[in-house]
Amino acid sequence: MAKMWAGRFQKEVDSRVNDFNSSVSFDQRMAKQDIGGSIAHAAMLGETGIIDKHEAELICAELEKILADLESGKLEIDPLAEDIHMFVEAELTKRLGSTGKRLHTARSRNDQVALDLRLYLRDEIEEIKALVGKLVQTLCALSKEHLETVMPGYTHLQRAQPITFAHHLMAYTQMFLRDLSRLNDVKKRMNFSPLGSGALAGTTYPIDRKMTARSLGMDGIMQNSLDGVSDRDYCIELAAAVSTMMVHLSRFSEEIILWCSWEFKFIELDDAYATGSSIMPQKKNPDITELIRGKAGRVFGDLTTLLTMMIGLPLAYHKDIQEDKEAIFDAVDTVKLCLSTFIPMLETMTVLKENMRAAAAKGFINATDCADYLVKKGLPFRDAYKCTGELVAACIKQGLTLETLPLEQYKSSCDLFDEDIYDAINLEACVKGRTVPGGPAPESVKAQIEAAEQELERCQR
Ligand code: ARG
Repeated sequence: MAKMWAGRFQKEVDSRVNDFNSSVSFDQRMAKQDIGGSIAHAAMLGETGIIDKHEAELICAELEKILADLESGKLEIDPLAEDIHMFVEAELTKRLGSTGKRLHTARSRNDQVALDLRLYLRDEIEEIKALVGKLVQTLCALSKEHLETVMPGYTHLQRAQPITFAHHLMAYTQMFLRDLSRLNDVKKRMNFSPLGSGALAGTTYPIDRKMTARSLGMDGIMQNSLDGVSDRDYCIELAAAVSTMMVHLSRFSEEIILWCSWEFKFIELDDAYATGSSIMPQKKNPDITELIRGKAGRVFGDLTTLLTMMIGLPLAYHKDIQEDKEAIFDAVDTVKLCLSTFIPMLETMTVLKENMRAAAAKGFINATDCADYLVKKGLPFRDAYKCTGELVAACIKQGLTLETLPLEQYKSSCDLFDEDIYDAINLEACVKGRTVPGGPAPESVKAQIEAAEQELERCQR
């Protein structure tokens, strides 16, 4: 195919250069946004009288047809095209002749591609947001079922203090709500139009940049044309936001991997969301969560690609920037894939409450409550702490727990102990007593769920 710039050149481009240069294999996914942007541009050219209004209408109508033909499969994208922008323009010209050749008036591929990517990622953000919203709803629903499901809370992966499964899940909910609000932030800064920046220095035509921005649902125009064509902050910000989300998903995944093990057995994955082994007949593996943990690294790689691509790049556009798309597309594809598998896996897993409760009964996770009991009876905390430590040591020696240690032994270590110590160290009571906002008491977690549901609504507005 003859190049659009053939006039300046004596030779055809080497086919290896063509393949190397071409981005159509990956930027064709922006066909809809490219055509949408071109329609807005052509309509503006007609309105402002830069091109004949009737011709502008013909262009817009034909672009709609091209999109419909692409969507129905009637029109196939030429793999030899340099990029989606060149392909659409060439197709338009094939269909409309010289009228088609007027579309690119007062525009460059540099502002065109910057616009397309913003429009494309704006849509992607909505898809990711919908998935994160679903995840938050799933976690809130699961939490409502497990307000009283006692489990050990950990520090250093050592049993520490009693919490509930709902309390644990709501911690992740908070992370995903922050992810949602980060996505909103990214979108807010992204939604400005670079169109009209031209190649780098704007244009002498009397274009109306605000008109095209408005018709594309953008919040305004980018203020500087050099920045308009070369800014990729929005890709970096989005990759950073989804990287952070992948950190959260990987932490959650790691816990699920632990919880599935025979050592924990806190949950059992549904058969449809686990895999077997080719040799060990007994195996049921949490592959999904392992893969999510692995894919986190891949998304961080995408972020690194974008950051490195932009390092030290002089103004304005350079071909380096074409590398933005594969990286950011991979990041958004990966996070969507992870979320859409993770959610039904959570929805279908079985929570083994009794095992959580049994694990909570071991490991002296009520030792702090034992010390607090003495404090409430007037002992300074450090003395109460020391006394309880000695009791724990005595329990370990005799194979007992704080629940089964006889009252005489309590009394002999400190005369403030009485029969009511057993109520004070009862795990359910320990959880229910932690009514502080943010704490694990059922009423406190209920408030967290309510607040989370409100925050979700705010984020989705
Ligand atoms: N395919 C190119 C990209 O994605 C479009 C912009 C080309 N501009 C240029 N000056 N060669 O970056």
